[in-house]
Amino acid sequence: MTQLSAAQNSADAPRSPDSSKALYGGKGTRRITVRDITAAKERGEKWPMLTAYDAMTASVFDEAGIPVMLVGDSAGNCHLGYETTVPVTLDEMTMLSAAVVRGTSRALIVGDLPFGSYQEGPVQALRSATRLVKEAGVGAVKLEGGERSLAQTELLVQSGIPVMSHLGLTPQSVNTMGYRVQGRGDEAAHRLLHDAKAAQDAGAFAVVLELVPEELAAEVTRSLHIPTVGIGAGAGCDAQVLVWTDMLGLTGGKMPRFVKQYADLRGVMSGAAKAFAEDVVGGTFPAPEHAVH
Ligand code: KIV
Repeated sequence: MTQLSAAQNSADAPRSPDSSKALYGGKGTRRITVRDITAAKERGEKWPMLTAYDAMTASVFDEAGIPVMLVGDSAGNCHLGYETTVPVTLDEMTMLSAAVVRGTSRALIVGDLPFGSYQEGPVQALRSATRLVKEAGVGAVKLEGGERSLAQTELLVQSGIPVMSHLGLTPQSVNTMGYRVQGRGDEAAHRLLHDAKAAQDAGAFAVVLELVPEELAAEVTRSLHIPTVGIGAGAGCDAQVLVWTDMLGLTGGKMPRFVKQYADLRGVMSGAAKAFAEDVVGGTFPAPEHAVH
């Protein structure tokens, strides 16, 4: 092999990630920043993100090496007992985000701006995001919408607050959009690609793509220099996110097709609760070893 063809070969070869820097499985122990996320895209590295809403769960995911956690407003459905994300307040998001920050030492924590906390305009968005950064200690915020949230994204980024954008199915718009696949058909696909580029140009460091056809998500991923984080958007995205209660089988009921369930926490917890109740009713708990004298 000539020197030239060897050089060409190595340039063409898929870049093997520098394992010491890898977001997942890397050696770093300091808290991950958005600059690390940017570097991972440059290395062509895929990474996982999970939601978290409390300190203890977040500490488990942090110990497992999950590099980015989203304190999503899915907390509305998965933690606070609302039917949708719409009622979630900024006070609730601030409290939950602070707990997740306290429970972690390595993961980048992204706090969701809830419905009604940024739609009025950039100044309202800055006021809300500032609470999540100052009171809760998050390293970045997420907001829904591309073009429609551009001015907000620009002001937050100019003010030093990293922004993750959220496109495709945006659950805060459930009352107008429903829970439907987005970006189907040429015009919708073109609009989504345009929104993603606009979010990137406004300074977003990453874009969530929710419930978008796999081919379109892959095209968006190839077109951007910032990472895409897919949920129901296929394998072509740079990162994947799941809602933790879905991923661990705690959420009851029928799961969307894109969820992979890695455990049956609902079954485990229910079984344990019943075993405890039966021990109490049957008088076998507490046993002598559980008593103090
Ligand atoms: O709120 C949330 O959990 C989200 C993810 C589904 C991306 O927005």
